[in-house]
Amino acid sequence: MRSVKTLKNIKGKKVLIRTDFNVPLNGNKVLDTTRITSALKTIDFLRKKGAKVILISHIGREPKATLKSVFLLLKKYFPLCYVSDIIGADAQKAVREMKNGDVLMLENLRQDGGEKSGDKIFSLALAKLGDIYVNEAFPVSHREDASIVLLPKLLPSYAGFQFEREVKELSKILKPKHPFLFIQGGAKAETKIPLLKKYLKEADHVFLGGQLVDDFFRAEGLNVGKSAVDNNLPSLTAFLKNKKLILPEMVVVLRDGKKQTVSIKDIHDSESIFDIGLSSIDALAALIKKAKLIVWNGPMGWYEGGYVKGTEEVIKLLAGAKGETIIGGGDTAVLIEKKKMADKFTFVSTAGGAALEFMSKGTLPGIKALK
Ligand code: 3PG
Repeated sequence: MRSVKTLKNIKGKKVLIRTDFNVPLNGNKVLDTTRITSALKTIDFLRKKGAKVILISHIGREPKATLKSVFLLLKKYFPLCYVSDIIGADAQKAVREMKNGDVLMLENLRQDGGEKSGDKIFSLALAKLGDIYVNEAFPVSHREDASIVLLPKLLPSYAGFQFEREVKELSKILKPKHPFLFIQGGAKAETKIPLLKKYLKEADHVFLGGQLVDDFFRAEGLNVGKSAVDNNLPSLTAFLKNKKLILPEMVVVLRDGKKQTVSIKDIHDSESIFDIGLSSIDALAALIKKAKLIVWNGPMGWYEGGYVKGTEEVIKLLAGAKGETIIGGGDTAVLIEKKKMADKFTFVSTAGGAALEFMSKGTLPGIKALK
């Protein structure tokens, strides 16, 4: 991959930066700005070199979703124009009128079906708007979208600063220091199975929390009451036999109207598991102390429902760890950002699904396309 920092003599050149401004919104308010601020270094670098910077991104999955709210926030950082068009006459005119050092933002790429379908004509039209392509959208680089895999083949292409950082830091997991502790929480066990397979081989210990443990408890023959389970999972027997796998022994349920920590052998039919019990974290604390590398993905409990203690305890323990700490993005990163604790970790990824896929495969379609 060529780095954006190797770009020279780009005064007046039109640089298309594929950003990932797929940020959570409440009305017009951007709830988490991390993905926006992490792209600023690349944008500044290019505009200060006199390039004409064109920002392209998607937001959400609804074809009507707009980047207007992101534009309103981003223009607080530098002068920015916005056109509610992608490849049409308005976008072309806006690009023609740009001066050196200007920054222009185009509309949500997914408003054109060609982005998701990987349409060649759409990619060619996008490519016509620029001279150079920069990928600063690591969090969406696991998709085969036109702007991720086709556009870099049509223009000289480079990796942005944050993109490079994501690859460098997440690559530490591929050649880990030992002892290596892998902590996996969150829901949707089926998406975590490839990761667990890999890290049960490569890590020294794998600790599980979050909703996905319900499936493991059930596979052990325990009663999980009304907890959410996935009926389409492959057999988990081989996982359960692996001595590296550590499951919590105490969990939190709602009993008699109160949050109570109970043994996993004592779940009533009417109850659901909502968090891991703090006593389960003692075992984890000992492993965290010894580990030279710790990787963590996904909350330990139902955070949105107020079951926060397990996750907050893990954040605290990792923030004080001596070894390197790498946090997969998504919900975990948002929680750390909310607590303003990102600087306490070696690296907090801006990516959710893309970080998980990189950890399991060691590459992504967007990385391959840049090469
Ligand atoms: C993300 O938020 O994970 C990326 O922006 C990708 O979005 P998608 O899952 O809608 O493709």
